[in-house]
Amino acid sequence: MFYKVAADPLFAPPGLKLVKEIMSDAHNEHESAIKTPKQLVAAVIGFFAVTIIGIILLVQFVTSTKLTGAGSNSQAPEEVASRIAPVADTGYTLKDANAPKVLQTGEAIYTSTCAACHGAGVAGAPKFGDAGAWGARIAQGYDTVVQHALGGLRAMPAKGGNPDLDDVEVARAVVYMANSSGGKFKEPAVPAAPTAPAAEPQK
Ligand code: HEC
Repeated sequence: MFYKVAADPLFAPPGLKLVKEIMSDAHNEHESAIKTPKQLVAAVIGFFAVTIIGIILLVQFVTSTKLTGAGSNSQAPEEVASRIAPVADTGYTLKDANAPKVLQTGEAIYTSTCAACHGAGVAGAPKFGDAGAWGARIAQGYDTVVQHALGGLRAMPAKGGNPDLDDVEVARAVVYMANSSGGKFKEPAVPAAPTAPAAEPQK
């Protein structure tokens, strides 16, 4: 006679559990998040996608042309030259502190120093080109006006606030401003330089 074996799960009577099943029941709380074949396929594909993207990015990084350091040509003379070009440019000249001072034109001084106030008439400064505001000041005469520019006058700072300016430069700026505002001052003469060589000829 042939009896069905109870160990065969297909033929196990209901209510009877195999030892194996009982053990897996006990571990239910450690179940994987992946429960269906679909989820498994998605997880595998996702893992490969992340890995492949990572490899692609790494390859791009390694083969990029902006490599520095060992293995690159970053120390090649041409590379160095191209990096220092902004300051090594032929148009860039270091200022020699001992060189005779080249006096700037009145217009240059006006633009760099005086225009801050005189351009828009800040703090009651006579505005550039405003003949009405300059008329009475010009009438004081060249010497007085220049003296005020050099030494200051109320809200007007001495030398326009830039003590590095040469007296002649300030005087030129005064003449430039006054003559652009109805005045007829003469360009100040450059005093003979005490030490040769003199400043470059001015235009
Ligand atoms: C911080 C603002 C300021 C700057 C910068 C400045 N000025 Fe003035 N300046 C004034 C003011 C304000 C007055 C009017 C002063 C007053 O009469 O009370 C004035 C007046 C003057 C006058 C007329 C003086 C007079 O006798 O009436 C001259 C000339 C002058 N400035 C020249 C210059 C020159 C040249 C520079 C640049 C080197 C310069 N200023 C830069 C504010 C400025």
